[in-house]
Amino acid sequence: MPRFETIDTLSALNERAAGTRVLVRGDLNVPMQDGLVTDATRIERLLPTILELTKRGCKVVIMSHFDRPKGKVVPEMSLRALIPCLVKIFGGRKIAFLENPLGENAKEIVANLPNGGIALAENLRFFAGEESNDEKFARALGKLGDAFVNDAFSVAHRAHASTEGLARIMPAAAGRSMQSELEALETALANPERPVVAVIGGAKVSTKLEVLTNLTSKVDRLVVGGAMANTFLYAKGTHIGASLCEKEMAEAALTVMNNAAEVGCKIILPSDVVVAEQLKLGSTGETVHISAVPPNMMILDIGTNTAQAIAAELESCRTLLWNGPLGAFEYPPFDGGTRVVSRAAAELTTQSKLHSIAGGGDTIAALVSANTLSRFSYVSTAGGAFLEWLEGKELPGVAALYG
Ligand code: 3PG
Repeated sequence: MPRFETIDTLSALNERAAGTRVLVRGDLNVPMQDGLVTDATRIERLLPTILELTKRGCKVVIMSHFDRPKGKVVPEMSLRALIPCLVKIFGGRKIAFLENPLGENAKEIVANLPNGGIALAENLRFFAGEESNDEKFARALGKLGDAFVNDAFSVAHRAHASTEGLARIMPAAAGRSMQSELEALETALANPERPVVAVIGGAKVSTKLEVLTNLTSKVDRLVVGGAMANTFLYAKGTHIGASLCEKEMAEAALTVMNNAAEVGCKIILPSDVVVAEQLKLGSTGETVHISAVPPNMMILDIGTNTAQAIAAELESCRTLLWNGPLGAFEYPPFDGGTRVVSRAAAELTTQSKLHSIAGGGDTIAALVSANTLSRFSYVSTAGGAFLEWLEGKELPGVAALYG
């Protein structure tokens, strides 16, 4: 695959960067409560690109969606509310607001920005043309800039005007955050150091079937955890008591296991588990062998032996890909498995023995609660896009950058 353009290589940015108008697609779809941003990670990830471009004297127009207003103006979803947070993260810089990014006024505001100035366009999903990837809409947006920089991997699975359309009609490059994401993902699956182990947890096989199917042909070892493992165990005839299980997915789980065996991918399932009668705060768990799950009990985490066995597997691997918690980590003590395994991963990463990549909303929360997130080699803030990439799908926002 030819390489994508970056801020370093895009000629529109290099010939005479000062005064060049650059449209930067970020993902400002951040969690908010009572008008305040509760997790600014996605905005922080945008900072390197914004700093570099403004330092070179570019006039930067930040574009994003927020939530799902479905082509209508929904005042509570206005990006205006994010300005104080952006100003703080961007070191107190002034940010002009483009209430109607398609209007003449918006062009004037951008033209009048000082070199190195920043403007923020209103939520693009207020316009139907954004999600329908309408070319006319993309061309109208494109009039605000001379070049396009996509720094929003987490929306790259959407073929929208500001993720795919703009890249097709004007000089386009990956921003720094997109660039690191693509490089990290390439290191993990396209060109990894082997052996590669994937840890895939979560509740439902049905939502991760394509991920599991794709990974069996790409990785050397596949750890299946979370409630998903129950369905695999059930499919193999193990008694799983009152555990969460998608019985209708048993056939699919068997197919994954058979495919894995054919291509030599080792599937690792729990050999012992932590069980309880109920999942609630304050429950106490009991560790039992996988062949001894009582009929009235639920499996809520992997047991100590399993956690140690997975940690030992990590020691013999060079690359780790992690998506999904191994147990009901929000309810201690059922966070033990995720904690032990992620600590082992963090430790090996610190010793440069393992390249560890994690992604997905739940995964980040689980690794934050285990206090191991910052020691992973790379953490993707993408949810749906990370999953689709794990499924082996082409992401339209990325494909458009490759041209
Ligand atoms: C996300 O939060 O995963 C991205 O911003 C994409 O949002 P969407 O699922 O509404 O397209």
